[in-house]
Amino acid sequence: MEFSDKLIEKLSKAKNVAVLKGAGVSAESGVPTFRDPGGIWEKFRPEELANFEAFMRDPDFVWSWYQHRREIMRDVTPNAGHYALAEMENLFENFDLITQNIDNLHFRAGSRNVTELHGNIERNFCIKCRHFAGEIDITEKKVLKCEKCGGLVRPDVVWFGEMLPMEALRHAEEAAANADVFFSIGTSAEVYPAAMLPVIAKRAGAYSVEINLNRTAISYELDETLTGKSGQILSELVNKIKEAGK
Ligand code: OAD
Ligand code: ZN
Repeated sequence: MEFSDKLIEKLSKAKNVAVLKGAGVSAESGVPTFRDPGGIWEKFRPEELANFEAFMRDPDFVWSWYQHRREIMRDVTPNAGHYALAEMENLFENFDLITQNIDNLHFRAGSRNVTELHGNIERNFCIKCRHFAGEIDITEKKVLKCEKCGGLVRPDVVWFGEMLPMEALRHAEEAAANADVFFSIGTSAEVYPAAMLPVIAKRAGAYSVEINLNRTAISYELDETLTGKSGQILSELVNKIKEAGK
């Protein structure tokens, strides 16, 4: 991939770099995305699964679907994109990785400064007393009951209609507003408020770059779209940044 001189120059001067990433970054690890052909929302309707009412209507069904996703995530490994993002953390004074993914692959690749906007599938809490469950058996398809009060236990992920964790969102907005360069990677940028972040960054003066297989709903607002697989583009980009003397 040919990178523009402008991008490399911006990156070689940048102090604050932030990234919003989505399901596309984990696609090369074998985790299905949501909105691509064959993606999760083609097989299931979000309203049947990813909301509180659906959970109350049929807790075992929703729980077993998350258990199934946990099994997928247990069996996959980080890809070149995750490793490149972990490396980028060492190349800039401030590097914020803001993720919509709930899959932990970024931590497994070595990233440390990660802001999770949509929760984390490894955590579970009781809807009645908010007690967090310890380690769980991910093969058990029946919904877990709270060890303290017997209430239903749900995954600590953000469902449709729910608020994002306030502190994570506040931090992400601040990182976007302060970024010299902002990347939006492997996300369709259709789910708000996350999709607002690249635009916040752009309007606050960041050089804004998208990495995706295709153009997205927000491409026209940004400075560049690099089309291709994030794993490959990010590895090449890291090499280029290092060559430029970072
Ligand atoms: P989507 O499935 O909406 O979008 C995935 C994006 O990744 C698409 O734009 C693809 O073109 C792109 N893509 C796929 N493979 C890629 C690759 N190898 N390299 C680069 N890009 C690639 O996923 P998200 O934008 O993450 O929310 O979805 C946002 C939210 O919607 C998710 O966090 C989830 C879902 O409902 C919750 O669960 C709260
Ligand atoms: Zn409880």
